[in-house]
Amino acid sequence: MAKVRFVGSNLNKVTEIKVGKIILEGAEENGIDIPNGCRYGACYACSVEVIKGIENIDFPNLKPSKNKIMTILTCISKIKKNGEIVIKL
Ligand code: FES
Repeated sequence: MAKVRFVGSNLNKVTEIKVGKIILEGAEENGIDIPNGCRYGACYACSVEVIKGIENIDFPNLKPSKNKIMTILTCISKIKKNGEIVIKL
């Protein structure tokens, strides 16, 4: 299990998501709403910033932004290993 903290303007929630699980699905199972659309990596509606723990995520399309925060698509990114992850919605 990875310990995943979701943060946002009105959000600060910690949950656990199993290794191998798609992050979008793991969030939904824990009552955390991430905007989404296609659910196969085409529309970018589910993109989030990973503030911490990028090494614990399997991401097919990592996109570093200007401030070196990594952006992932949660519908096609999986938990890679146990550890701590912080995601900004
Ligand atoms: S829901 Fe469309 S890219 Fe993730």
